[in-house]
Amino acid sequence: MADQTLGRKIYDGAIVALEVMVLDLKMMFSLIKAIFEFFVPPKLKSVENEIILITGTGHGMGREVALRLGRLGGKVICVDINKKGNQETVDLIRKESGKAYRYECDVTNREAVLELKEKVCREVGEVTMLINNAGIMPCKPFLAHNAAEIRAVFELNIIAHHWTCQAFLPSMMERNHGHIVAMSSMAGLLGLRNLVPYCATKYGVRGFMESLSEELREHPKDYSGIKFTTIFPYIVDTGLCKNPKVKFTNLMKIVSPQEAADQIVDSIRRNYFSNTIPKSMHYNIMMANALPRDVGLHAKDFVDSGLDPHPY
Ligand SMILES: NC(=O)c1ccc[n+]([C@@H]2O[C@H](COP(=O)([O-])OP(=O)(O)OC[C@H]3O[C@@H](n4cnc5c(N)ncnc54)[C@H](O)[C@@H]3O)[C@@H](O)[C@H]2O)c1
Repeated sequence: MADQTLGRKIYDGAIVALEVMVLDLKMMFSLIKAIFEFFVPPKLKSVENEIILITGTGHGMGREVALRLGRLGGKVICVDINKKGNQETVDLIRKESGKAYRYECDVTNREAVLELKEKVCREVGEVTMLINNAGIMPCKPFLAHNAAEIRAVFELNIIAHHWTCQAFLPSMMERNHGHIVAMSSMAGLLGLRNLVPYCATKYGVRGFMESLSEELREHPKDYSGIKFTTIFPYIVDTGLCKNPKVKFTNLMKIVSPQEAADQIVDSIRRNYFSNTIPKSMHYNIMMANALPRDVGLHAKDFVDSGLDPHPY
């Protein structure tokens, strides 16, 4: 009996040792792959004939991303509450012989999103790529935010992502093919003054994307054909950030919406799980997170950049 118990213990120990060895090999392989891909990025995938729904296409980065995906042969579903701006985007895409379709929808309204889903499916087809881009940014000290502003920023910047994903993810799951993209922000990686509710929503976007992708990854069915990309831009010159404060303009460059869109489309086509704009910020944040909090705070104070309040 004692021999049997000892034998069992040795057997269990050997199994754990084997599992740890396999884990080490897997981790080593992924690390080497990541280092390799730093120097040789993954190939750009085609988006031709993908049905790509983008929210907030009436202006800024949404418009620029839509234009680029239209040029690449995607069927672009332009969604915005601003009919005029959205029509301009559709016209620009069509002028370049791209395929674009205009839909008005307030994506904070769950029923409106579900109706949009039915309409798009009937008129164009099943959406294979969803880009949750629309966002707002009240910028003022925390206590100056009123209740309506706080609710509005949560409704659009994070709750709407739940509505659009619940509407468009199921058909991607049925085909094990799709891509969900979300616009977070540097404010989703760092706490920034004057942006308390905004930061809370952009941290929320990060959590939403991490956990949704985990839910599919751990699912017994294979959903590896559904990709996730979260973008963390710093300051993009779209007019959203009205009073940017940047001490070292070379280090923390304010980028144009066109430059930002080039990087967003590149990240999508390479199936990156996340990317910062500018790219260098990724390593700064990684370093700051690895260091004790106070060390990172000194660096943040030295860089001294962010946003001054502006009327909303
Ligand atoms: N501009 C920046 O510096 C910056 C930096 C980091 C992250 N971001 C994020 O990137 C995204 C795009 O930013 P941008 O600067 O291009 O914005 P923008 O203000 O230029 O455009 C946003 C678009 O969203 C639309 N929209 C607003 N409410 C909507 C609603 N309820 N339903 C549908 N559409 C709606 C607007 O009409 C507008 O066309 C946002 O999520 C923003 O938070 C922007």
